[in-house]
Amino acid sequence: MTHPPRKIIIDTDPGQDDAVAILLALASPEDLEVLGICAVAGNVPLPLTERNTRIVCELAGKPDVRVFAGCDRPLERPLVTAEHVHGKTGLDGPQLADPTMPLQDQHAVDFIIETLRREPAHTVTLCPLGPLTNIATAMQRAPDIIPRIGQIVLMGGAYFEVGNITPAAEFNIYVDPHAADIVFKSGVSLVVLPLDVTHKALTNRARIEAFRALGTEPGRMVAEWTDFFERFDMAKYGSEGAPLHDPCVIAYLIDPSLFEGRHINVEIEVQSELTMGMTVADWWGVTDRPANALFIGGIDADRFFALLTDRIGRL
Ligand code: RIB
Ligand code: CA
Repeated sequence: MTHPPRKIIIDTDPGQDDAVAILLALASPEDLEVLGICAVAGNVPLPLTERNTRIVCELAGKPDVRVFAGCDRPLERPLVTAEHVHGKTGLDGPQLADPTMPLQDQHAVDFIIETLRREPAHTVTLCPLGPLTNIATAMQRAPDIIPRIGQIVLMGGAYFEVGNITPAAEFNIYVDPHAADIVFKSGVSLVVLPLDVTHKALTNRARIEAFRALGTEPGRMVAEWTDFFERFDMAKYGSEGAPLHDPCVIAYLIDPSLFEGRHINVEIEVQSELTMGMTVADWWGVTDRPANALFIGGIDADRFFALLTDRIGRL
């Protein structure tokens, strides 16, 4: 018996890996109904993340997807960006023309609130791929939507893999730790894809050439984005390739059997500057703090890349 496609809202800060995640979602209509895509400040400032989001929708041949601009800074802290990883535009690698599809007038937070109030309770999944500012702002502004959210499946955090922006914290959580604290304490069913799993979803020459061999514009773009994106992680970690962080969120929604994890307590450091934004994951159950997240640690990387290449080959 086939299930109807899962209704999702993607919240994103493109970023090359966000772009691949958006392509994967838009290439999977039998699994996912993308109600809208919300841009947030993160890898690069908001004017760029909303522009990049529209570029990716047009690349996917889906200019009718509704794209919304959201929050341009974290709840309390100054914005920290990651041009050192993603380049000045956030999508460095290939040359990209400006988008022509429209940006929606409505603010992303209002779109999230309106959609959750309209759609039947528990039928919408939120998929944050960047800092959690838009999600937390919606929860603060309209607490009535919290029990209506079906699930939040997010890329963020780290435990065994430790931090990538500070020794203790992963970028998405670090940029807006107060927003993350709100989301992780919200009581909403959470699936967290941290660096512990995304650092096992590494590109390599063969995997990048498989995208290029698709012979399509999306395939070429993904190859050029990952060629650019991987230089930072390879230099820093000495790894064979770049971690495709954000596509793990979408792949989890399409085929959760690709992943494994534990239902544990995860809390966010918001007091100490030294460990600000750390996801304190009780992986070994040494506290009696209630489990609030499915924290993913394992992936079948070969099957993940096979799914990714097959689906992007559809565009
Ligand atoms: O730490 C990795 C995360 O930060 C990814 O979502 C990447 O796009 C950046 O937003
Ligand atoms: Ca991202």
